[in-house]
Amino acid sequence: MNFRTIIEPFRIKSVEAIAFTTREERAEALRAAGSNLFRLPAAAVLIDLLTDSGTGAMSAAQWGALMQGDESYAGSRSFYRFEAAVRDLTGFKHVIPTHQGRAAEHILFHTVLRPGQIVPSNNHFDTTRANIEAEGCEARDLVIPEGRVPALIHPFKGNVDLGALERTLAEAGDRVPLVMATITNNSGGGQPVSLENLRGIRVLCDRYHKPLFLDACRFAENAYFVKMREPGQGSRTPKAIAQETFSLADGCTMSAKKDGLANIGGFLALNDDRWAEEARNLLILTEGFPTYGGLAGYDLEAIARGLEEVVEEPYLRYRIRSIEYLGDKLTAAGVPTIRPAGGHAIYLDAKALLPHIATLEYPGVALANALYVEAGIRGVEIGTLMFGRQPDGTEVPAPMELVRLAIPRRVYTQSHIDYVAEGVIEVARKKDSIRGYRIATSPAVLRHFTATFEPLP
Ligand code: F0G
Repeated sequence: MNFRTIIEPFRIKSVEAIAFTTREERAEALRAAGSNLFRLPAAAVLIDLLTDSGTGAMSAAQWGALMQGDESYAGSRSFYRFEAAVRDLTGFKHVIPTHQGRAAEHILFHTVLRPGQIVPSNNHFDTTRANIEAEGCEARDLVIPEGRVPALIHPFKGNVDLGALERTLAEAGDRVPLVMATITNNSGGGQPVSLENLRGIRVLCDRYHKPLFLDACRFAENAYFVKMREPGQGSRTPKAIAQETFSLADGCTMSAKKDGLANIGGFLALNDDRWAEEARNLLILTEGFPTYGGLAGYDLEAIARGLEEVVEEPYLRYRIRSIEYLGDKLTAAGVPTIRPAGGHAIYLDAKALLPHIATLEYPGVALANALYVEAGIRGVEIGTLMFGRQPDGTEVPAPMELVRLAIPRRVYTQSHIDYVAEGVIEVARKKDSIRGYRIATSPAVLRHFTATFEPLP
């Protein structure tokens, strides 16, 4: 018998209470937070979809593995287990642990980049872009045109525009030290990159003698999309697809807080001996000795186990379907979102829903804040607030104005998701009463984390 219901492939052994608040309490909490959801105490949030990063539930096997953690400063047994798990998946020669993804980015970019260089990718995520710009370089987004149109259906909206990449390499190749691809493409809607596209990037990288690095935070979700959507891939395991994906690259940065199924951790993995040596020297300066890289031995154990669990097919089938389930409900109710559904999140199209709010009055912030006050659900703006400010201080509209509802891994059940759909649909019904914001205070970099806002009349 083939049952149609895809169930959570786990049962719950330990629970954490969530806090109910009144609409008045939420409106007050938002005011006190300068209208920035990042500034809210998490205890004032009912369903927290701010991020899928570090917010997942670990398995009993991971918690058990914590007790196996070897806290030796150098040569810890846990490091070798971690290294073996990363190598088994990626095949990369050097495995360098870091405390999270952006530390791996910082170490890679500080080792490799010189001011004035260009790093092409499909889309760089916020910390990646900021780390590239901090080296005086340009983070160049070259996603396919379909990837910039929220309502357009395409199986691999995260693909790199190979023509645009070739032009960058032909015209400015001497300024490109490496090419990147983000799998899945977070700022573009959690959309996958196909194996065919990665092979095309590889051909260009070989022709111009450039290394290819993956921003691999969500490699397992990407592999499952490849399995479902790419011709000829349906009978392969997600792990085999992930292994082929990594085999096309020369290295990767990874936040284990996503598809590592851990609450903290990351790594830089690469084949180049000279870059690895320089990276390890910088690691010792900023993160820690190369066999722990700013992590506890028990963190390395949790990640090693998480990397095995994340490619299990029942997990990925549930994971991808549970996001799509939320997307289907919103689409059926006429709420505009990036389609198809992403691998870790649903992205509401704030520009389409709130055409009466100008881009520089931050429709994504307005929508995210309204959803919080209405239903206690916390999402995050991905739009002009996050990406609009240029290194020269000017502000240009981002290609899309989105509110991302990121779903933590193995945390919320179907009824939580039904509640989220109800909340979003209710806010969409009241859209005409939603107003924009202006920035009151703003820091120099990564302003979305700490800026404060004032609601417009
Ligand atoms: N790359 C991508 C594609 C990411 O999504 C993130 C983090 C990072 C790199 C940095 O990793 O947080 O471990 O330092 N994204 C989180 C998010 C924060 O909410 O999407 P980190």
